[in-house]
Amino acid sequence: MVKVRSQFIRLGLVAVIVGLSGCEMKPMHRMTPRAEPSAAAVQKPVATESQAPALKIDVKPFGETEDGQPVRLYSLRNANGLKADIMTYGAIVVSLRTPDRKGHMDDIVLGYDKLDDYIKNSPYFGAIVGRYGNRIAKGKFTLDGTEYTLATNNNNLNHLHGGVKGFDKVVWNDEPVWKADAVGVKLSYLSKDGEEGYPGNLKATVTYLLTNKNELRIDYEATTDKATPINLTHHGYFNLTGGERDILGHVLALNADKFTPVDEGLIPTGELAPVKGTPMDFTKPTAIGARIGNAYEQLKFGGGYDHNWVLNKRGREMSLAARVYEPTTGRVMEIHTTEPGIQFYSGNFLDGTITGKEGKVYKHRWGLCLETQHFPDSPNKPNFPSTILRPGEKYETTTIYSFSAK
Ligand code: BGC
Repeated sequence: MVKVRSQFIRLGLVAVIVGLSGCEMKPMHRMTPRAEPSAAAVQKPVATESQAPALKIDVKPFGETEDGQPVRLYSLRNANGLKADIMTYGAIVVSLRTPDRKGHMDDIVLGYDKLDDYIKNSPYFGAIVGRYGNRIAKGKFTLDGTEYTLATNNNNLNHLHGGVKGFDKVVWNDEPVWKADAVGVKLSYLSKDGEEGYPGNLKATVTYLLTNKNELRIDYEATTDKATPINLTHHGYFNLTGGERDILGHVLALNADKFTPVDEGLIPTGELAPVKGTPMDFTKPTAIGARIGNAYEQLKFGGGYDHNWVLNKRGREMSLAARVYEPTTGRVMEIHTTEPGIQFYSGNFLDGTITGKEGKVYKHRWGLCLETQHFPDSPNKPNFPSTILRPGEKYETTTIYSFSAK
């Protein structure tokens, strides 16, 4: 009880400090150990109720992990009323509310209402995956002459999304981020040398920003003290209908003339194949369901789309990767990224066994993932852009999801 009360006094002070500090809040030096619970209404002063909604951040407890680590939920709101709920467990986007063409807000990502469900069984709903997003063949790679062995957590065959306990299953440190035109949360995680078999102490930071331009911006940063592969991405399952039906009617365009074909285990062969004349060609907007059932070997291997596309771009420029249009609601999502690739996964493994938010059953292909990334299995593919981060270097990538309706 005493602990609870002193906690509230401390939080009250935080709220006052935040309230007094005006628009730009530079986080103070963090003295709080990561496991300490906290809950705060971190809100910029709003003049009157009648004004348009202002940028807002609310932070509240969202349960705890099995080993007793408290988890917090950040509710971000922009000046147009878009909302993003992000929790510190897995750096997971729990909900994302955007308007349809009539201005009606719906939650356009799949997930659960409660932390426990995420912990028990989640196909990476809304999470940040790492240290290496997607697959590494047989869970093995050789770096500077040393062979490393990782978990083969994908059908006992390959390494997937960072292993048994990847970045999607850890509790991240958090601090609110205030900008003149955006609100966000900065999440950080120290992945220790040897964790899940990877070399080096890796300090990773993921900053989510909800901007007044109706963007969800994700900035990824990392440094290491030993050379390591790294490939961080966001594993949101989008359904622009608000989860009303499957995603086969969503119209997708990918800014990619090539993709990386895979074998039966979804490991790239190393080839960069032209999409032209195949069901992989999304250079023109095409309904996802239009060709997904075609007798095409790559679609058979993936059980649908589950491939990496090679984005048309020069170097590390920020460029358009994908555009998704949902005809019944008019919602449009555009993705820009500095990354060279994007994994388009059409939710093939969803099979109706998961009941998600508000009791909705997630049937086959109920959500789609568009994961900006380096190519799968790059540590074993010398012809793919390198995913090796070395001491003294800084890993920096950015992806922006923009929301509109037409
Ligand atoms: C992969 C799929 C995998 C899914 C897990 C995607 O990124 O490409 O093969 O099943 O993540 O939910």
